[in-house]
Order: sequence, then structure tokens, then C-alpha cells
Amino acid sequence: MCTPLNSAIDWQGNTLWLLDQRALPVDTRWLECTHVDQVNEAIQTMVVRGAPAIGIAAAYGVVLSAIAHRAASTIDPIIDDCARLAQSRPTAVNLQWAIDRMLGVLKKHSAPQPAIDALVHEAEAIHREDIENNLTLAEHGAAFLAQQEPASFAVMTHCNTGALATGGHGTALGIIQTAWSRGVIDHVVVNETRPWMQGARLTAWELQQSGISMALQTEGAAGLTFSSGKTRWLIVGADRIAANGDVANKIGTYTLAIAARHHGMRVMVAAPISTFDLSIPDGSHIPIETRSEDELFYQGGTRIAPDGIRAFNPAFDITPHTLIDALVTEQGVIETPCREKIENHVKV
Ligand code: MRU
Repeated sequence: MCTPLNSAIDWQGNTLWLLDQRALPVDTRWLECTHVDQVNEAIQTMVVRGAPAIGIAAAYGVVLSAIAHRAASTIDPIIDDCARLAQSRPTAVNLQWAIDRMLGVLKKHSAPQPAIDALVHEAEAIHREDIENNLTLAEHGAAFLAQQEPASFAVMTHCNTGALATGGHGTALGIIQTAWSRGVIDHVVVNETRPWMQGARLTAWELQQSGISMALQTEGAAGLTFSSGKTRWLIVGADRIAANGDVANKIGTYTLAIAARHHGMRVMVAAPISTFDLSIPDGSHIPIETRSEDELFYQGGTRIAPDGIRAFNPAFDITPHTLIDALVTEQGVIETPCREKIENHVKV
């Protein structure tokens, strides 16, 4: 097992270091990226994952592109690399958001060389701001939960939304950490989150490092857990939030939200403003990443499914805003989110 880590992304003297999240918690292995193509591949292959984290990694990838093309007379090759980076994973809008910020800086220059310092500065700002936003978001979420009944309760979470999935502290898991430190949350039920097991491998590990009471379960156990009244809130992150508040998040979230509503449990979604995509009217317009069938056919390198079958492996699903009780950002809490409330919240 590895030692506690606050962040999975590190920029050191023109090199991007990514903690290989595929190996956790058994191995702490860092991938050295000195070329934008390595960053592209790292995002596609889940070395780095989680909506804010892939945005931050892509921002540093743009810096690596500028360095590689420093002798070029135009910024066009970097713009091409940005287009490729933006395709690496389609659902999380934080990726395009971070690349757009980098392009905004790049386009103030006519050639790569003079842009490099400004690009490093922008990537570091995106990274730092994400941590600051998460800390603020966690304050809002924890304060909101502290007003709920009873004084202390258990929650359920899905996938991994912690320090590993962001610049630091996390979104949904950041709220859980902060609320735990104040005695508001007393236990966390963690869904293992098939097929990548982000819950079992990453969230369980982060909670254990923090000494937070937790239990792992298959997501199939969620209905039973809700029906027993053991948890009060489902608290999850988001990969993209449409203008009406529909949320794309890890596959299974929608099913969990339906079960939660059925049993009178409440649903909280936590995400920074960079996760909102107001150009999309509702969740039906959010592109859903479909990953390789092999992710379902194999476990630990061993084939577990019969040969000759097909598999359906969407990485995300859409939870309609009508199933969400609270949406938490660095700007506060939106209760029962809808188009009008989101419009007012995001433009503040
Ligand atoms: O496929 P992943 O591991 O990148 O999916 C991650 C999630 O679905 C998270 O809930 C989301 O990105 C928010 S991370 C703060």
C-alpha cells in the first residue's frame, strides 16, 4: 500500500508527473510526461481521471505542446494538439473548459516561444484555483449538511471525487471530508463502482487515509442500504451539468438517484462552476463516453465472460435535475436546481 498523497498531478520544471491511478492502492507509480501525446494517452487510459483532474492535466499538456513546438513560426501546431487533447475523453466538460482557457492565452501570441511562460502560469492558475474552489465548495456543502436532521448521519458516495480526481481536496468527497471533521457525517458507504472500481480502489483508500468510518458495498446493494434507512444522503460529483441542471456522472449514478428518491433519501451533487455547460439545454445533449467491451470481459487480466458475446459499457449516465435535491459549487448551494436558478447562480 502507498502513503497518503494530497494530489495526483505535479508540474516540475517542464515535466508533468501523473500518479498512475490504475495501480492504486497497491502501487504508487508516477508517470513522467514530457510530451503532449503522453498526456493524451494518460487521459484516455485512465492514468489520470476525474473531471477536474483531466482538465488540469490537459492544461499542462498544452504547455508541453508549446515547448515541443517552440521553434515553430505559428501557433497552429499547438492548436492542433489542443483539438486532439479535447477529444481524449468526451463527457467531462472541464477538459474543454481548461483547453479553452489555455487557448485564450496562446492566441495572444503569434508564435509558441513567447507564449510558454504565460501558458505555464495559466496551467498553474487552473490547478491552484481548482484546489481553492474545492475548499470553498466543501465549506458550503458541509454547512448545508450541518443544517439537516439528524445532527449526524451516514452518507453514500459513488466513484471517486476526492483529491485524486481533482487538483486537491475533492468535490463530493471534499464535502464528506469536511463534514466528517465537524461531526456532521459519521459514516460513509462507498460503492465499488464497476468496472474501474474507483470506489473500492480510490475512495476507500482516501477515506482510510483520513481515518473516516466507511464500508464498501457493490452498487447493487444500494437499494437495500437505502431501504434500511442507514444513509440519509447520496453525495456524488459531476462530469458535466447542463443548463437545466441535468447531471452527467459515473455510470450508475442515475440508478442510485432513482433508488434514493424512492426511499426518501436526498441527493447532493458537488462540482465546480467549470463543470457547467450552459450551451447544452439538457442532459440529452451530453455526449456519453462508451469504453471498450474488454473492461467488462476481463477482471485482473483474466477473461470472465464467455467468448463471442457483446457488451454495453457506457462510462457515464444522466441524472435528471428533478432527482437532485442540492447542487453545490464554490458559489454556494442551489436547492432543487432548475434552469432559472442555475442561470442566476453561474453568472454571479
Ligand atoms: O471515469 P472517471 O473515473 O473519470 O469518472 C469520474 C467521475 O464520474 C466523477 O464523479 C467526476 O468526474 C467528478 S470528479 C470530482
